[in-house]
Amino acid sequence: MKYRLLDFLQCPHCRGDLEVQPLNHTRTEYNSSELNDNNACPTYCKNPDQELIKNRETQSHCQKCYEHEITEGLLTCGCGKVYPIINGIPRFLPDSFDQHVDFTRKYYNEINKHDGALNNKDKEHFVRMFKKTQGTFGRQWKTWGHSERIYGFTDEEAKEWFLTDLTARDIDASYFKGKTVLEVGCGHGRFVKILNDLCDEYVAIDLGPSVELAREITRDRPKVHIIQANAMFPPLKEESFDYVWSHGVLHHTPSTKEAFQAVSKLPKKQTGRLYIWVYHKGGVVWEYGNQFVRSITSRLPAGLLRLISYSTVPLLYLIPAYNRRVNLSNMSWSECALSTHDWLAPKYQWHHSPEEVKGWFEEQGYGKIEQTSANGVGITGVRR
Ligand SMILES: C[S@@+](CC[C@H](N)C(=O)[O-])C[C@H]1O[C@@H](n2cnc3c(N)ncnc32)[C@H](O)[C@@H]1O
Ligand SMILES: [Zn+2]
Ligand SMILES: [Zn+2]
Repeated sequence: MKYRLLDFLQCPHCRGDLEVQPLNHTRTEYNSSELNDNNACPTYCKNPDQELIKNRETQSHCQKCYEHEITEGLLTCGCGKVYPIINGIPRFLPDSFDQHVDFTRKYYNEINKHDGALNNKDKEHFVRMFKKTQGTFGRQWKTWGHSERIYGFTDEEAKEWFLTDLTARDIDASYFKGKTVLEVGCGHGRFVKILNDLCDEYVAIDLGPSVELAREITRDRPKVHIIQANAMFPPLKEESFDYVWSHGVLHHTPSTKEAFQAVSKLPKKQTGRLYIWVYHKGGVVWEYGNQFVRSITSRLPAGLLRLISYSTVPLLYLIPAYNRRVNLSNMSWSECALSTHDWLAPKYQWHHSPEEVKGWFEEQGYGKIEQTSANGVGITGVRR
């Protein structure tokens, strides 16, 4: 985690500023043209060489905020919460210490100096509501994250797909120049590299262990920041981003609408844009049939489900909505199996109509609301 990220972060519990306690860190030198630090830490700079500077006017010395990376450390908040930084990734989940036993053992004394750090009261609720989702997608990206094509697209094709189908009609690549982008639910990070080439700074969060893969492929990029966190409780300051987007993620939370409400506060007021893509609600027969099938498949053991995902690939021809893009004529067997797994495995999978989602944008004070040309429900709007 670069020091720079501190300016975006806040405690997801009380929204307070976070203090950082580095336990291990590295430095990579960048030349200033690589950094172009116009946007650097405008409100909260904790440059490793400086005292905390809040609302400072000069921004000339933030090079070090990018060069110094905390690989292991603790983020602490006045409310008593403590969040670990492990393998360079800040972790904001209630069971983060339990999940990383080696780290917790290694720094046990440091962690224990903070009362109650290891006894997060939200743990039980988190495990009940989110653990299954975390495991499902963690395994999915571990198995398929290295495929050349994901959901039918190579990286280059995915970039075109993003620009034509997953953004507002008046947006092209030039829009992203100099922009700060947040991706909610980045998976193994396939869009992170692609879109960071277009924009200035890119922050990406995901619930699952696929954040390790996302970090691995972007660790040489000073202006990419990967965070492990829950979209329903984002550890990010409101109004921080020019562009916030979330593709195929919010409908996998316990409540798509509540996740949307949390995420909708993150774009900057007046200019910030938000884009979300969720599954389309189908007819009654389809909805009940799907619910019935998934009520069985989403409970199956992981190995069996993977086997089913591979063995049922030819049946994709029976589902026209899928068959248009996902079929054996333009994808390998394994890539088709990824799509099947993505459908059958998740604990939550909510479906929505475009009108419903547009209504959420309106309620949160968005204007210029439009549906993009993506299949499914892709809605975008500008924050007022
Ligand atoms: C279907 S994948 C989509 C990944 C990526 N957006 C893409 O389009 O390739 C859904 C992702 O959402 C993440 N996810 C699910 N629930 C989440 C939550 N509550 N907070 C953050 N990420 C979540 C999963 O871990 C998974 O990586
Ligand atoms: Zn706090
Ligand atoms: Zn700074």
